[in-house]
Amino acid sequence: MSNRGNFSSRIGFILAAAGSAVGLGNIWRFPYLAGTNGGAGFLLIYLICIFTLCFPVMVGEIAIGRKAGSDAYGSYKKLGGGTWGYLGLYGILAGVLILSYYNVVAGWAFGYFLEITFGNLLNHADFGSFFGEYVNSIGPIFMFSFGFMVITAIIVSQGIAKGIEAANKIMMPGLYLILIGLIIYSLTLPNASAGVEFYLVPKLDQITSKTIFYALCQAFFSLSLGMGCLITYGSYVTKDQNIVKSAAIISIADTSVAFLAGLMVFPLVFSLGAEPGQGPKLIFVILTQAFQSMGPVVGRIVGGSFFLLICFAALTSTISLLEVPAAYFVDQKKLPRKAVVWGMSGLIFVLGLPSMFSQGVVPFLNKLPLHNAPDFLSFVSDLCDIMLITGGCLMCLFIRYKWKINNMNEELEIGNTGYVQSWLSKYLTFAITWVCPILLGILSVLVITDKYFGLEWLFGAA
Ligand code: TRP
Repeated sequence: MSNRGNFSSRIGFILAAAGSAVGLGNIWRFPYLAGTNGGAGFLLIYLICIFTLCFPVMVGEIAIGRKAGSDAYGSYKKLGGGTWGYLGLYGILAGVLILSYYNVVAGWAFGYFLEITFGNLLNHADFGSFFGEYVNSIGPIFMFSFGFMVITAIIVSQGIAKGIEAANKIMMPGLYLILIGLIIYSLTLPNASAGVEFYLVPKLDQITSKTIFYALCQAFFSLSLGMGCLITYGSYVTKDQNIVKSAAIISIADTSVAFLAGLMVFPLVFSLGAEPGQGPKLIFVILTQAFQSMGPVVGRIVGGSFFLLICFAALTSTISLLEVPAAYFVDQKKLPRKAVVWGMSGLIFVLGLPSMFSQGVVPFLNKLPLHNAPDFLSFVSDLCDIMLITGGCLMCLFIRYKWKINNMNEELEIGNTGYVQSWLSKYLTFAITWVCPILLGILSVLVITDKYFGLEWLFGAA
């Protein structure tokens, strides 16, 4: 295993996995999904999902990876035999699809960083229509997404320890600092309390089947679960590390960033008299408006730094997404890392082009001839969400029926003496044998039949 590379230290793994988890999911997607799905009700369900479903799945994934010491495909195959390898491939495919559209959104954020810092973005009057035009300005977006992919590829081609660990050590503390600064700012604005109420005081009638589904998918996405990302990272973890504790730290780090992002956004939304349910453009519109009101110099500095930090956060996530297929080709096909990384990133970039062109430039991609006429980017993102929860469900079934829960517990005992006797081990055992597979299974079936077979029991026709 040593020639595959390992994380050089315990903190290295935690930083890398937390870096994977913290990304556009926390700062861009979480606030807008909370905004469209009832605010505090969404937050409540989200937190429940993290504790009951996501944390056990995360522990399971890391345990599989460290035990098998291989990529997602190789790990399932090694512990479960040939056919289980397909579950790994399914995850790798999900990762490729996620990265294809994720990189496009990262390109938007990168563009905003440049336009705020060096251009005159903050002089605009209507940030809503600016966003619409900007994501359709194909030249710049193409370049920025391309640049983003190249930077990701450079880091991943350096191998696991050097590139990935180093990138995280600067980004995480900076992100917390700027979030907290912006929260303090937004809480001092008039009418901020209405935003706090929207975000923190749940009303039960806001919680619908749609809320539950989106909150669950968001929790999986945010923690990078369900597609073998943490199996792959887990395979670089040494035997002296305490997996359960690391998983707890990663979950807390990720959840706190999402929580803080919401706390920053909603007071701003309400003090600006804006609409919380405006979808993917939410943070791009609201934050630029806030930066504008800070004045030309301060706005430029604070806004520029903020979007730069988002780019860093996105970068540590794109790194982890690219690492999954890369590890597969390096481990299984014995191809050289550099060639694999450049080949994969080229392919993924091309796969992302329809998402890039789906915001209006190409009308067909903007309204696909499917149920509810989604744009291509939303279509791929929905599809990936479903792949993550089905992937998580199948992983639990794998542990339960094939690898066996006792073997998982034995692996978790390594680096954590006394674990097997603890109440936590009983809780996680129960969650992985019963709660997760059943709930994730039921939701998967409901969602698939709803979205793709038109049964409309979750979302209705609208
Ligand atoms: N979790 C990241 C975010 O919140 C995105 C991400 C990185 C991801 N790796 C993943 C999502 C693996 C699902 C699976 O931005």
